[in-house]
Amino acid sequence: MAAPIAAPPANLQGAVSSIPLPRSCTSDRLWRNRDGSQYSDRNGKSDQPNFILGSAFLEELKRTAAYIAQPGKGILASDESNATTGKRLATVGLDNTEANRQAWRELLYSAPGLGNYISGTIMFEETLFQSTRDGVQFVDILKKQGIVPGIKVDTGLQPIDGTDGETATQGLDGLGERCRRYYAQGARFAKWRAVIKVDSEKHPSSTSILENAHGLARYAQIAQANGLVPIVEPEVTLGPGDYSIERTAYISEKVNSHVFRFLNEYNIILEGILLKPNMILPGLDVPTPPPEEVAKYTLRTMMRSVPGAVPGIHFLSGGMSEEEATLNLNALQAYGPTPWSLTFSYGRALQSSTLKIWSGKEENWKAAQERLVALARANSEAQLGKYTGPHPSPGGTRILQTLRLGGAGK
Ligand code: 13P
Repeated sequence: MAAPIAAPPANLQGAVSSIPLPRSCTSDRLWRNRDGSQYSDRNGKSDQPNFILGSAFLEELKRTAAYIAQPGKGILASDESNATTGKRLATVGLDNTEANRQAWRELLYSAPGLGNYISGTIMFEETLFQSTRDGVQFVDILKKQGIVPGIKVDTGLQPIDGTDGETATQGLDGLGERCRRYYAQGARFAKWRAVIKVDSEKHPSSTSILENAHGLARYAQIAQANGLVPIVEPEVTLGPGDYSIERTAYISEKVNSHVFRFLNEYNIILEGILLKPNMILPGLDVPTPPPEEVAKYTLRTMMRSVPGAVPGIHFLSGGMSEEEATLNLNALQAYGPTPWSLTFSYGRALQSSTLKIWSGKEENWKAAQERLVALARANSEAQLGKYTGPHPSPGGTRILQTLRLGGAGK
């Protein structure tokens, strides 16, 4: 029998426990018997001891997830690998040096007022251990703004031999040990991105769906066992082709359903995860649908495939333009109330114009920070269904990237 999970070191416990749970978080009540005592097991007669349920991390996991999913807030995804960050910096003429990557992340994390709209930030490993130019650790400036530090823990994509270019996400080896180091450094949530290729007939294969759902569940189990809320990210990627919005909806429903089946097999506490899916869009050769249509298909997919115990669905921007990402998020709120919050975990849709404005020039620092906060505010309003515009970065085209294999993440 495996050893019970150790308690977290006392000095690291409760990093967010002083923060009251949002009123919207009702699931906590469902964890108690009528006399107020805590359930000891999922159904009281499981023959498989569930170590997470006995873990000192249980309350903290639920609290962290509820905090990040609170109304009017979302996640800033800034966990691009050094290779991808280099490609982004190159678009504004900057070299891929550690100093430039550090300066770019400092600009993002120290933006005044960012914490009014952002509840969590995903970082790459290098960044988690970095400091500002004045020597203040990034994790400390984030926590001061009420932003929970998070960490990408997957190590990137590898082709699945025997398929037509489909991929599996790597990073399970040594993951427990890495999670413990990240927790000690202040991270309280994690991310693992699984990529599912879609087209009008052949893809995804069932090999790809099963492999990726399994990987997400094993990762989620290891993250929860070590005190990190897992962001579970099954990304049905926006790609070339004329496949319909119906097709993406069908595939995403199928993928999510497999993911939750595996999460169940691995005894994942659903109140202690966050889901990061794609919005439902047709292939790139199909004209961009209006926000109402995207919202209708996206909500239907989530209702069919995501249990209500999950506190937050944090959509990725996945190539949508900055304005499109905000408008679609706003349209999604028209169907509420929903069991989970429908919110954002945007990378490109928060960073693209911010990076262009900065372009590595000290004199543009403040204007770039103001753009980031304006984009975060627009998406915060959209999360509340109150976005009326004008958008800080109007119009704009899709922000596409090619799939990167090998290496350390996207
Ligand atoms: P995008 O919003 O740019 O898709 O990035 C979010 C993310 O973290 C994908 O893994």
